[in-house]
Amino acid sequence: MSEKEKLLEEIKKETLQADLPLKEGATNLVFGKGKGDVEILFIGEAPGRNEDLQGVPFVGAAGKNLDKLLHEVGLSLDDVYIANILKYRPPENRGPLPSEIKAHTPYLLKQIKAIRPKVICSLGNYATKFFLAGTDVDKMNEQEGITKIHGKPREIELDGMKLKLIPLFHPAAIIYNRSLIAEWEKDLEIVKKEIGK
Ligand code: URA
Repeated sequence: MSEKEKLLEEIKKETLQADLPLKEGATNLVFGKGKGDVEILFIGEAPGRNEDLQGVPFVGAAGKNLDKLLHEVGLSLDDVYIANILKYRPPENRGPLPSEIKAHTPYLLKQIKAIRPKVICSLGNYATKFFLAGTDVDKMNEQEGITKIHGKPREIELDGMKLKLIPLFHPAAIIYNRSLIAEWEKDLEIVKKEIGK
């Protein structure tokens, strides 16, 4: 196990012990999946039913679509680490509440610090707005939506780390809107360029 992976294991234990909102109604903590030593970090919204049952992000329909979409652009799950804004499933898959985002994201930020990726790809509006707001949850509403800014890289600073943010459409949105696949493929070429692939 690499140093980064050991660190991620420690953060996972710490997250498990934390008294987080949504923990009580959830089956499992959904911490993250992938190797620690990667250059790309994908960040989704929140676990759904399958993720809650398996304790692994993106294993349901959106996850299967994500695997396929990565494959189509010559990437695989070995190239990315995947985590969510929320670590436990919200009831009925409703959107995350600001209070939940505030409580859960300190653990996400620890994951990001451990991995130190070159590129963060925020999947969909919640994750994108969280980073655009500089992690200030109260400013998320003021941020531009994914339709306008997907595929446009920008520099962000997180706890002294300079990172590239590339917002992407959420893979679940792409399942229901086939015309977005072409956009996704173009956006992923930009991601690949950032990591020299
Ligand atoms: N959608 C997400 O945003 N995250 C998951 O883990 C699954 C579906």
